[in-house]
Amino acid sequence: MDFSTEEGGVFENLLPLDGDDREKVYIETYGCQMNFNDSEVVASVLIANGYAITSNINNADIALINTCSIRENAEIRVFGRLDVFAQIKKHKPAMLVGVIGCMAERLKDKLIEDRKVVDIVVGPDAYRELPTLLRAAEDGQKGINVLLSREETYADINPVRLDKNGVSAFVSIMRGCNNMCTYCVVPYTRGIERSRNPESIIREVKDLFDAGYREVTLLGQNVNSYNWHEPNSPTKQTTNFADLLEMVALVDPRLRVRFSTSHPKDLSDDVLYTIAMYENICNHIHLPIQSGSSRVLKLMNRKYTREDYLNRIAAVRRIIPDCSISTDLITGFCTETEIDHDQTLSLMREVGYDFAYMFKYSKRPNTKAANKFEDDVPEDVKTRRLSEIIELQGKLSEISKRKDLNKSFEVLIEGESKKSKEHFYGRTTHNKVVVFPREDHKVGDFVFVKVTNCTPATLIGNIVKE
Ligand code: SAH
Ligand code: SF4
Ligand code: F3S
Repeated sequence: MDFSTEEGGVFENLLPLDGDDREKVYIETYGCQMNFNDSEVVASVLIANGYAITSNINNADIALINTCSIRENAEIRVFGRLDVFAQIKKHKPAMLVGVIGCMAERLKDKLIEDRKVVDIVVGPDAYRELPTLLRAAEDGQKGINVLLSREETYADINPVRLDKNGVSAFVSIMRGCNNMCTYCVVPYTRGIERSRNPESIIREVKDLFDAGYREVTLLGQNVNSYNWHEPNSPTKQTTNFADLLEMVALVDPRLRVRFSTSHPKDLSDDVLYTIAMYENICNHIHLPIQSGSSRVLKLMNRKYTREDYLNRIAAVRRIIPDCSISTDLITGFCTETEIDHDQTLSLMREVGYDFAYMFKYSKRPNTKAANKFEDDVPEDVKTRRLSEIIELQGKLSEISKRKDLNKSFEVLIEGESKKSKEHFYGRTTHNKVVVFPREDHKVGDFVFVKVTNCTPATLIGNIVKE
């Protein structure tokens, strides 16, 4: 799961607009999958209030940008886009511009003060207020709502699946984060952790299955701490993540289940046994380590040591022998030495990650690391360490792909390959992308594919009988 992209995304599929006099909203999204899922919630709220969605900003009456604050680069990119929106607005002065998401929460009214083009600023827990704020903005009143909530989970809102292939969908199971990793802005932009009512999750998953979806990815910043307390239950009934995972797996054996992200401190054996027990829960765990040095992990407030993490990896290998493991890494965190860096490299080798997202530490204003520690690893050292990490992961990813050669995997067909209409792509249970000739199959089918070759990013194969 990509919790890391700084690339933007736009909904590709239009709702029917011909002869439609509804106001049209364009939504551009940056950041993690939760943000993409939030844009679907926003679209749902707006459509219910009489708006339509467009994928072309030139047709839009309202342009929204759903933003990410995780690293400085993510914010720089959004400011660049706001400059482009300002250019477009010169030709279309009536177009309203809204900044939503994590930058809205972090920068609040500063966004309106600094950028004339911005009309409304709405934080991640205030999307139900969007129609009201938009109506006020139409009357010339700039508006802001960045209140964070203790309860909001948008449980009753069915996200509108605009950008999707009709096969795989994200389902948010919780919001916010309580972990306070010292480098991280998320607890400030998303508020405290709260779990969504499991009944509403199961209802959404069933609806997706009935609509033809064959894969769901359950989303949260730390899904392993999912915990729902049934209000007013005489038995004080609770649902933890292992329970929820099982409930989702039982919706239908033909529905694939994925989840992200797991925090190593909370990944329980119960969850691992549940994954092992159900064929339709994919054998892939995204388990961000961040650093291989226990000293750095302590400064990061990750609440586990290198040894604790390796114990969790051993548990994964023991309980789910055939499981792929991916991770996130931050290089050049405050005080990181060459010895710490070598420990990260050695840990990567020891685990043998199948995939990794790798980042240079980026100081985020008002986090504990920014306030208390010095960002003292020089930029050129960060760059060099990052390239060493990327190079090593390149080798590990290749080893991981080579392991699959001449083996057959069940693959859910997700769409046409970008490079050729004659080919489909899909993923194995291990979350590896496979490209293969389409034969007479269709998107949404499960097929068995024998891997015959691989490139650095993809497996290549052919459909086989089994
Ligand atoms: N909740 C998830 C991750 C959310 S952010 C988790 O705890 O695993 C996704 C990734 O961005 C993090 O895992 C981390 O590797 C990276 N990240 C977060 N803050 C960062 C910062 N200040 N600088 C660089 N990378 C950062
Ligand atoms: Fe950020 Fe840590 Fe929460 Fe992940 S667990 S979102 S890294 S504070
Ligand atoms: Fe996601 Fe970026 Fe916010 S990673 S939670 S959109 S800061």
